[in-house]
Order: sequence, then C-alpha cells, then structure tokens
Amino acid sequence: MDIKMIRLQTHGDDRGSLVALEQENNIPFEIKRVYYMFKTGQNVRRGCHAHRRLRQVAIAVRGSCRFLLDNGREQIELLLDNPAQGLLIDSFIWREMYEFSEDCVLMVLADQLYDETDYVRNYNDFLEIAKKAPLIPHKLIQA
Ligand code: TYD
Repeated sequence: MDIKMIRLQTHGDDRGSLVALEQENNIPFEIKRVYYMFKTGQNVRRGCHAHRRLRQVAIAVRGSCRFLLDNGREQIELLLDNPAQGLLIDSFIWREMYEFSEDCVLMVLADQLYDETDYVRNYNDFLEIAKKAPLIPHKLIQA
C-alpha cells in the first residue's frame, strides 16, 4: 500500500515533449479505464473515498492539484504538478483532491471498470476496514 511516484520517461526534442503510457510497463497493471477531470471549480474537494480493490495512477497532464492520501493510520499530502509523474494509488487508500488549478486536467488510469460497489465512501467505514488490514508502512517512493 505504498504511495509510489512513477517517473514517466519524457521524449523531448525541439518540437516539444511526449510521454507514452504502457500497461504492465511504466503503468504497473492492465489499463481497463481512463477518465479525467477538468474545469474543476475553486474550493472543490473531489475523491473523498477509498476503493476495495481498484488500483489507479493519477497524472496531472496539465496544471496541478493537491492530494491527501490516508491508509487509516498515516496521511500524506502532496502536490501533483508534473505531466511526467504518475501517482500510484493502491487499493484501500482514502484519497481527497483539492486546490485544483484553473487549468488542471487530472487524468486517471484504472485497472478495473467503473464499479460503484468497489467504493468505500464513508470515512468511518474506511477506518474500520483499514484497522483490520495488516500494518504496511505508508511512505512516498520515487521510482
Ligand atoms: P465521482 O465518483 O463523484 O468522482 P470523484 O469521487 O472522483 O470526485 O464521479 C462523478 C460521476 O461520474 C458519478 O456520477 C459517477 C461517474 N463516473 C463514471 O461514470 N465513471 C467513472 O469511471 C468515474 C470515475 C465516475
């Protein structure tokens, strides 16, 4: 349940920059779904849930936003502001996103299709479930 920042190789030349995302390669799972958030209002907090089994990689392809990640024991706050960085969010991590820049496009790659039954939307329910999970250190790893 580590929080891993994936450094995405950037192919740059005098025309600009390009990042390629490949399943089971720089994205550590089969990509079944891609969604993105944009035109997020000021003072909006999104997310505010955990997933039972879904794994995701979030990339701020434009602009920036902040993440709060919580494994029920510890919390980490970080800024996602680089299209060459992917934030790996494992299952059973409570996440909140906020302070979206006006131009932010936050893209998320997921290893499952959308499934409402996979969501844990109540924080106290999340804490109850997290209490039963084995203690895994929650640290930021730069890959
Ligand atoms: P929601 O879960 O509220 O977004 P978040 O919690 O990340 O801020 O999703 C907003 C709406 O979009 C909600 O009606 C469900 C729908 N949705 C899909 O249909 N497919 C998806 O892959 C996602 C992430 C959301």
